Amino acid sequence: MSFDARGSSGGGPAKIKLVAGNSNRPLAEAISAHLKMPLTKGQVRRFADMEIFVEIQENVRGEDVYVLQSTSFPANDNLMELLIIIDALKRASARRITAVVPYFGYARQDRKPGPRTPISAKLVANLITTAGVDRVMTVDLHAGQIQGFFDIPTDNLFAAPVMTRDILERYGKSDLVVVSPDVGGVVRARALAKRIEAPIAICDKRREKPGESEVMNVIGDVAGKRCILIDDIVDSGGTLCNAAEALLKNGATEVMAYITHGVLSGGAIARIQNSSLKSLVITDSIEPTAAVKATRNIRVLSIAPLIGEAIIRTSREESVSSLFY
Ligand code: R5P
Repeated sequence: MSFDARGSSGGGPAKIKLVAGNSNRPLAEAISAHLKMPLTKGQVRRFADMEIFVEIQENVRGEDVYVLQSTSFPANDNLMELLIIIDALKRASARRITAVVPYFGYARQDRKPGPRTPISAKLVANLITTAGVDRVMTVDLHAGQIQGFFDIPTDNLFAAPVMTRDILERYGKSDLVVVSPDVGGVVRARALAKRIEAPIAICDKRREKPGESEVMNVIGDVAGKRCILIDDIVDSGGTLCNAAEALLKNGATEVMAYITHGVLSGGAIARIQNSSLKSLVITDSIEPTAAVKATRNIRVLSIAPLIGEAIIRTSREESVSSLFY
């Protein structure tokens, strides 16, 4: 069923279709509920040898289509499914296709760390573009520059407003310090600190001499403060738990973390459960497993309304960036 997105703000009519891959059905359903429109009927099947086959079971000719798919674990299967869905839509004469990729896998491979290594984030951008999308929408890209890997419009949404609301509701504004767990995340920390009117601190990992173990230095005053660690990805949980430890050693009274993408591989859940972190808040950009939901100090915030709003604005050709002012 199409959705007439003619809005009170006067945008022209736009017919939208939402198509969900299988990487994160709960998020797709929440976006569909927010927009009050059903997901387009379709099927993703496997051949006996596990090749992916996609069938869109509704007419999409002339439609503005949003494909919802995070390229999270299993990253290669979910990426391939996204590419094949895009191909099916293009061949079905969709007017415009937007890949909505809340968690953009391979984003950490955004530069050559050494000779004879790939830039896989660029390769993935090429694959998505070549499959036939017109636009890309994603959330908290590991590095904003990855938008430049695409030569089509790319909207990088921020989970910060969702996190800000939660932080202010739970902790107010007093005695807070926003902390980046590494020097690479300072811009992100500064942006959140501005929203909640708090100072920032930075954890700086140093190996003073080759062969000596790494030391975590804290830059900034955290003594007697409640620390909010902010990052884009928690994977093994190593960066996060080490930073929490260093902050407490430097006199912080408690440490909470807000991290957009809960990759949480290997022993991450146990590491976080046994850590001194008071809480880890992630979003549903990646579908939380049953183990994540059962972990006492992990909470999940939904970014479905944020993505839904960005979809509506895109369909009406309205500003998306104004969602973040
Ligand atoms: C790195 O630059 C990222 O922003 C994260 O800090 C990193 O991916 C976290 O990984 P892990 O949880 O495995 O330490």
